[in-house]
Amino acid sequence: MNQSWVQVANLIAAVLFILALKGLSSPRSARRGNLLGAAGALLATVVLFFSGIKLGNLILILVALLIGSVIGWVSARRVQMTQMPQLVALFNGVGGGAAALVSVVEYLEYGAADRIALAATVFTVVIGSVSFSGSIVTFLKLQELMTSRPVVLPLGKWVTMLVAASTVVGAVWLVISPQVWLLVVLLVLALIFGVLFVLPVGGADVPIVISLLNAFTGLSVAASGYVLDNVLLIIAGTLVGASGTLLTREMAKAMGRPLTSTLFGAFSGTTAGGGGSGSDRPVRSAQPNDVAIMLGFANKVILVPGYGLAVAQAQSTLRELADLLTERGIEVDYAIHPVAGRMPGHMNVLLAEANVPYEQLKEMDEINPEFASTDVVLVVGANDVVNPAARSDKSAPIYGMPILDVDEAQQIVFLKRSMRPGFAGIENEILYDPKTTLLFGDAKDSLTKVVSALKST
Ligand code: TAP
Repeated sequence: MNQSWVQVANLIAAVLFILALKGLSSPRSARRGNLLGAAGALLATVVLFFSGIKLGNLILILVALLIGSVIGWVSARRVQMTQMPQLVALFNGVGGGAAALVSVVEYLEYGAADRIALAATVFTVVIGSVSFSGSIVTFLKLQELMTSRPVVLPLGKWVTMLVAASTVVGAVWLVISPQVWLLVVLLVLALIFGVLFVLPVGGADVPIVISLLNAFTGLSVAASGYVLDNVLLIIAGTLVGASGTLLTREMAKAMGRPLTSTLFGAFSGTTAGGGGSGSDRPVRSAQPNDVAIMLGFANKVILVPGYGLAVAQAQSTLRELADLLTERGIEVDYAIHPVAGRMPGHMNVLLAEANVPYEQLKEMDEINPEFASTDVVLVVGANDVVNPAARSDKSAPIYGMPILDVDEAQQIVFLKRSMRPGFAGIENEILYDPKTTLLFGDAKDSLTKVVSALKST
């Protein structure tokens, strides 16, 4: 393992991982970043086979690699953009579980060289298992195979604390006095803790927990690198741990809530929910023709895309509308909220698919002063990110989240299918505002009709 060419190859892989992260920091370079990261992982894997390390069960390893690659390839190709967070959750959980299992097997086969190696093994087993079971629960929630609402078990807070304390005590005990049965008990405790940790997190907060569990997986992989004496695993795991932690912080910040409220809010009743069906108050609805006329007479239009745009896959039609308006001399911008959609950068990725020029995408801080001088705001499948309850309603789960100030525009048009609320599950007062018009229907369908109405005027 110490031949110099192996070291050099590992160094190249490590540099590729760092360049990958750098690339992923901007939508423009994200695709390249992804490919660099994949190339690094491929290099690291191939090198291992030729590094002189003694590999038992070669056939089994190759078969497992093949099965894993086929499953990964097929699911990544098939997944809808809106299902990306649950795919990430699943892949991440499997990574944490694998790190934990490898450390268990290593311990059963060879024991631990010293107390530090033993501590690293215990850390990998605990954190990897938490990440595994926690990620499975986030997957089930996002895939709606179980309720996406916070689940608070009777005495949940105390049971969770008891399991957490037992896990810590068991981990210390194991390091002081290594015993196989204790390792198994610890593994089970950590798995239970992962479930209890994620159950009370609901609705819009789940993607934040996925990011946090991703950081956990990184840390457990880094610790397993120590156990296996593999520097590259330490580097890759640390990068994932650090970037996952930063991403978790950024997401919690963008939603205007401390991470503690995301994780433990359900115990005190202050968490993002889900559901609700709207009230019976009157609203003003219109036909595509009316919206086309409104847009045609405007001087300045801002488009606000949200999760519904992704569901409807209406990004290209939205671009077509924007191009039509621009051709008529109307000023058009896209307002991008940091948590619009269901994953970081969701709207950027979606609009990049439709080749919308990056210059037209305006971040929230940049666009907010523009709404007051805007004639028409077209909100396409967005809801929570424009909901003024975030400013004024202390009981709202999104209270404190900075929003796009669409209510300052002269006219607001919402494209949505019903009066159902957004992911946070709360009503949006702007829908009842006298200057708001609702165009009901699937966003792609509605936009197509608005575009053809505009073309014929
Ligand atoms: P939401 O508040 O979830 O609203 C989506 C809207 O789209 C709903 O009003 C829905 O109304 C409409 N819609 C759904 N399918 C549609 C279709 N086919 N055609 C037309 N409209 C459709 O979305 P948002 O404003 O983008 O906010 C994102 C939410 O996710 C926030 O609560 C945010 O905190 C949360 N979140 C995001 C992230 C990231 S990183 N993006 C992470 C964590 C949490 P109808 O059902 O009536 O059509």
